[in-house]
Amino acid sequence: EQINKGKYEHYMQKEIHEQPESLTTTMRGRLIRGGSCKSMSVLLGGIKDHLKTIRRSRRIVFIGCGTSYNAALAARPILEELSGIPVSVEIASDLLDRQGPIYREDTAIFVSQSGETADTLQALEYALENGALCVGITNTVGSAIARHTHCGVHINAGCEIGVASTKAYTSQIVVMAMLALAIGDNTLSSQARREAIIDGLFDLPSKVKEVLKLDQEMKNLAQLLIAEQSLLVFGRGYNYATALEGALKVKEVALMHSEGILAGEMKHGPLALVDETLPIVVVATQDACFSKQQSVIQQLHARKGRLIVMCTKGDAASACVGGSCRVIEVPQVEDCLQPVINIVPLQLLAYHLTVLRGYNVDQPRNLAKSVTTQ
Ligand code: AGP
Repeated sequence: EQINKGKYEHYMQKEIHEQPESLTTTMRGRLIRGGSCKSMSVLLGGIKDHLKTIRRSRRIVFIGCGTSYNAALAARPILEELSGIPVSVEIASDLLDRQGPIYREDTAIFVSQSGETADTLQALEYALENGALCVGITNTVGSAIARHTHCGVHINAGCEIGVASTKAYTSQIVVMAMLALAIGDNTLSSQARREAIIDGLFDLPSKVKEVLKLDQEMKNLAQLLIAEQSLLVFGRGYNYATALEGALKVKEVALMHSEGILAGEMKHGPLALVDETLPIVVVATQDACFSKQQSVIQQLHARKGRLIVMCTKGDAASACVGGSCRVIEVPQVEDCLQPVINIVPLQLLAYHLTVLRGYNVDQPRNLAKSVTTQ
């Protein structure tokens, strides 16, 4: 059943829509809530014997390519917050090009859906040579990355066939959020935050189900954008990754130029592109960066930008300040889990744009599901 399309026309469409189930499978048996003292905890069997070493590491370095890199970027803030350990995120090929420093005291975490990506695998060899503790986060049991790392966590998202990674991305973020909970100390000061995240994880599948109801709305938006040459996506904080990943989806399947932009960098160049014709998605859901995103939206309005604002449900008026814009309203979850929700409308948009433009959804030209050569 997993590898046929069922009621769907394309694997990408099926994989987008099965995210409530794939996320449930990712978390199954790993979140423990309740008991007499109402305690909550996370159990990641594949790394439990290495947790002490990870907690003592001088640095955590995530390494991946494409969507897997973006997932690590989405998870970095919560890892930093809960572990207190410096976290960096590396594109595998760039780390290799620079022969960037990796130390014995580092924990290097390799993120890969396939577990076979050549660049990531070579970076793994490099990190092993340099003596780092190597952890794998993959979707493929028995893959090269799963076999060659010291320990790891499978994301258990189920087989992903579409070249565009969708359900693996959201499951990767959830695994990394659970990893942050597992690494971080359960101190009194962090207890409320940890409990809120665990509650949020339990609720996430139903919130994803809710956001999937935007399917028709995203199809209508795709209809509107069908002939565009380019689409910019602005995000920051937890949702810088959403901007990068949304743009990657649009470019790889809809074959439309799209760029994810860190909103904080807007004035340092991208603002010059803004006019009344270029469509711009601004991710402005509620979190600590919201007021900064409001100011970005105001500045884009002042340049007559053609805006599509993604905001928290019920927030359209305060998000869309300074002018009129099309709005995508999404359910609110704990800030570190919001990227899981926010990517879904952009996955749907990329899917519908591709179908409407008549391109191959599951097998975009020039791309392979697993990039096993360098
Ligand atoms: C995702 O939509 C892409 N097809 C691509 O960026 C992919 O994520 C990248 O090649 C890494 O693959 P991996 O996760 O299997 O290592």
